[in-house]
Amino acid sequence: MKIDVFTLFPAWFRWFTEQRHVRNALDLGHEIEFVDLRSTTPLKAGQVDDTPYGGGAGMVIRVDVVEAALRARYEIDPVEVPARRRVIALSAGGRPFDEPLATELAAEPVLTLLCGRYEGFDERVHEHLASDVVSIGPYVLSGGELAAMVVGDAVIRKLPDVLGHEESAVEESFSAALEGAPEYPHYTRPFDWRGHAVPEILLSGDHARVREWRRQRSRERGAARP
Ligand code: ADE
Repeated sequence: MKIDVFTLFPAWFRWFTEQRHVRNALDLGHEIEFVDLRSTTPLKAGQVDDTPYGGGAGMVIRVDVVEAALRARYEIDPVEVPARRRVIALSAGGRPFDEPLATELAAEPVLTLLCGRYEGFDERVHEHLASDVVSIGPYVLSGGELAAMVVGDAVIRKLPDVLGHEESAVEESFSAALEGAPEYPHYTRPFDWRGHAVPEILLSGDHARVREWRRQRSRERGAARP
């Protein structure tokens, strides 16, 4: 998979690319690149945003700035880009990001993530330059960078062989193996901590009963979620 992240703050992602599973993905031949939206702006003095029509606080990232960045990168008319690859604009008001969407995106050969700042993008970015507008939750971040890392992380860990064999993306929260429910509780040593013991069944060695107990706990957790 090749992921392009368009951002005003590429340096934010240095930490992200140093994480083990991201490094694993890069070692396996996957690519993640960062494009500075300011580097191709057609405006003077590196300007990328402007005041909102209709008034109000904050600044809005201009559509012509995103257009120029996409044109420089893909060398086609930017309005054609969303038909050729998923272009995800990160925005608090977008479609909620969830495990099925992560699975869907992990199957894409190429992906583009657009990170907004300030009050976000001019609406025409969402309408004409993106294929999806995605939110990582009902709260407002200072920009799309952290959201892009969340999306990137959830997607990258689904790529084959990225997780070490001690980790597994097969039977984890919201996976098909758990019928979309949250994961069952995990325990390790000590057996007894301050009088709180590990459920006896996990020490029984009866794999079928352990599996059934875990499924049951997972279903209960799923039923308890809003
Ligand atoms: N940008 C600002 N807040 C966001 C959110 N909750 N999700 C995605 N992008 C955002």
